[in-house]
Amino acid sequence: MVNLDILIDKFRRHYAKPPRIFSAPGRVNLIGEHTDYNEGFVLPIAIDRRTYVGAAVNDSRVVRVQSLDLNEDSSFSLDQRDGLDTQKWPKWLAYIASVAFELQNRGINLSGADLMISSDVPIGAGLSSSAALEISVAAALLALCNESLDTTDLALTAQKAEHAYVGTLCGIMDQLTVTAAQKSYALLIDCRSLEVKHIDLNLPETTVVICNTNVKHELASSAYNQRRQECEDAVRILRRYLPTISALRDVNLGELKEHANELPDVLYRRARHIITENARTLEAAMALTDGDVEKLGRLMSSSHASLRDDYDVSSAELDLMVELAGSCEGVLGARMTGGGFGGCTVNLVRSDMVESFSRFITDQYRAQTGIEPIIYAVETDDGVKEMK
Ligand code: GLA
Repeated sequence: MVNLDILIDKFRRHYAKPPRIFSAPGRVNLIGEHTDYNEGFVLPIAIDRRTYVGAAVNDSRVVRVQSLDLNEDSSFSLDQRDGLDTQKWPKWLAYIASVAFELQNRGINLSGADLMISSDVPIGAGLSSSAALEISVAAALLALCNESLDTTDLALTAQKAEHAYVGTLCGIMDQLTVTAAQKSYALLIDCRSLEVKHIDLNLPETTVVICNTNVKHELASSAYNQRRQECEDAVRILRRYLPTISALRDVNLGELKEHANELPDVLYRRARHIITENARTLEAAMALTDGDVEKLGRLMSSSHASLRDDYDVSSAELDLMVELAGSCEGVLGARMTGGGFGGCTVNLVRSDMVESFSRFITDQYRAQTGIEPIIYAVETDDGVKEMK
């Protein structure tokens, strides 16, 4: 947990002035995986783990930043318009600077700023620690120069910064969840129109539990981009027969099956995942609206099978986590969440069984892999905001 009094106190002592405090949440996706860059549907929630930014203007063109978690200081000039040399910059700083540069590329004239950052979003676990950092910093920098962007433009700006710096051609889900979330609600996002529908997270006596495999695969970024390319290749081939389509969002399962022979097996499976996952996501949104947690759980479990078998983005550790959850009493559904190749699973667990679930998963996962997992029971939270 981040202690705001400590953050404020340290800010005052370090920069000799009081800060304004901005924060943005991490997110977990309930269902709708790898559908965002196929112009489909996703159903994430923002979680009650946040990145906090203390911020005040300074009278220079420099942004000074201190990371309390890493115990590191750094700075960059707002006039350094020639882009980032990502090799030389610490990663956390490059995220911050690329957001600042993208805001300026939109024509916003930022002021120099003093920032102090502290977060309890797990880093590199697939819970969008990067989007939480980008969006909380963007909100702070905008507010300090009396500017604002609506939730969609803020998300698009941070996504652009991420494309430019990380090189992962991510979709819009993470950034848009972090800007548009509301406590108590899941977000059904139409990733074509960017329309966000807030759906009451109506899960009686059920808790969302995240299991972190504590395994990260270095190839995740290139494999992610490869999946994106495969989807585009599938669309190019299918368009010969279905000339009106522009994304896999536009294809139904019947049409895919009809043209199965025209696609190499890998592309067929990739497309089948996207098409069935979009359908599952819309069904899940309906199940959520009806308070049908059993159905939501079943859809989550089918989503995992499709990500594992058709989309090939799971890992041995994620499969083990999901398998263990499946053998545990009180679990309604379990699946990998986020980009995959490591990171976390998301589980729907009967609230009175959360403790025994956590113990079981921790013991079994440790015994079978030698790795210590981390289990977080989470609640929904608000999107980016200034703390009052
Ligand atoms: C990552 C990306 C998102 C999305 C997911 C997979 O989190 O940042 O845009 O594509 O993977 O659903």
